[in-house]
Amino acid sequence: MSFSARDFRDCLGQFTTGVAVVTTRAQDGAKAGITINSFASVSLDPALVLFSVDHRAATHALFTGDAKRFCINILSQSQKQVSELFSAPGQDGWDKVAYEDDSLGMPRLKGSVAALTCERHALHEGGDHSIIVGHVQELVMGETGAPLLYYGGRYRTLGD
Ligand SMILES: Cc1cc2nc3c(=O)[nH]c(=O)nc-3n(C[C@H](O)[C@H](O)[C@H](O)COP(=O)(O)O)c2cc1C
Repeated sequence: MSFSARDFRDCLGQFTTGVAVVTTRAQDGAKAGITINSFASVSLDPALVLFSVDHRAATHALFTGDAKRFCINILSQSQKQVSELFSAPGQDGWDKVAYEDDSLGMPRLKGSVAALTCERHALHEGGDHSIIVGHVQELVMGETGAPLLYYGGRYRTLGD
């Protein structure tokens, strides 16, 4: 390989993404969430999407184990703090965010630009991440249409 780990990260950072928080509820009712930008659409019919979770993430065992249902909350530009809350190691930001239960009982974050309620469809290994494929069960479209973006290792907002 002719590139370093830093080069690889920098190169991936040239791909602009949105930011989402995937939320779930463990079998004992405890809420969990993780900030991700690995969200991607997979299939239109059936409606499938994916995200990947680092093996080292605190929520990895949950998302690859008991958490067979989850909600992918696509963040708006006014939810940068929400992204920070769910990407800070070991932090539980649930007392600082507004949410409601979706149709599968998963916590859906209020103020998101869109939310996709999913049932886990498949699980694949992807190096140091696990790839989780979700079958979309419910969609909610928000009102703002102004997403939070991530590019070059920094949060951004849409220009014209
Ligand atoms: C913009 C952004 C995107 C991220 N995308 C992912 C991702 O796709 N998958 C992942 O496992 N971690 C991702 N992370 C990192 C996790 O949010 C974070 O490492 C993790 O929640 C750390 O805390 P934990 O170990 O307590 O879970 C991302 C972080 C940020 C700020």
